[in-house]
Amino acid sequence: MLAAYDALMARLLATTDIDAILVGDSAAMVAHGFPSTVHASIAMMALHVSAVRRAAPDALVIADLPFLSVRRGREAAVAATGVLMQAGASAVKIEGVKGHEEVIAHLVESGVPVMGHLGVTPQSVHLHGYRVQGRERREADRLKTEGKRLQQLGAFAVVLECVPSPLARRITRLLTIPTIGIGAGPYTSGQVLVLSDLLGLDPVFRPRFARRYLDGAEVVTRAVNAFTRDVRSARFPAGAEIFH
Ligand code: KIV
Repeated sequence: MLAAYDALMARLLATTDIDAILVGDSAAMVAHGFPSTVHASIAMMALHVSAVRRAAPDALVIADLPFLSVRRGREAAVAATGVLMQAGASAVKIEGVKGHEEVIAHLVESGVPVMGHLGVTPQSVHLHGYRVQGRERREADRLKTEGKRLQQLGAFAVVLECVPSPLARRITRLLTIPTIGIGAGPYTSGQVLVLSDLLGLDPVFRPRFARRYLDGAEVVTRAVNAFTRDVRSARFPAGAEIFH
């Protein structure tokens, strides 16, 4: 799975072998420059979901329910989910499980596929930061229990973010639903990255767990500087680039 937020990238992803597109609330940081995902709103998410859906009509598109949208009671959570599903999401992702049990069960009963998200939950950054979760026995036990709880509630998969690899392996073995890891080692059922991390587009934010398959920042900088040089030396436009 890859996180992407716009039509251009979604159209490209639709031609690849990737299994699912996550319209993550990381859009707030990557596409809008906010310092955390706390700044994602339902309206922001819906715009990105609809852009991705238009460009990837057949893709499995999973949308993050943004900050606090599942904490305002069942009605509000249902309304937010309705907005994202009608914008084109095939499923929603919810961070954490404590206090969300009723909402998750209700959404699943209502026909909404729900993906869980455990470990580092970026919407709680102000409480936990981005510290690896589950290093201590008590935390590890809690994550195992929460994984089982999500499965019982009907979640179809669960993202494990920044948990020690042996724990991710144990949780994966414990569950029958797939685990999708990010910074959780190689033993999860699947992996998720943010597309711009995979493409190396951010020269500053380079998380250790995100393998860069391209130095996109360098490629883009080089291309833009080549364009600037060509314009300044009157080598662009030329030939077929000119209408006569
Ligand atoms: O918002 C997001 O991109 C995510 C992934 C990092 C799993 O939740």
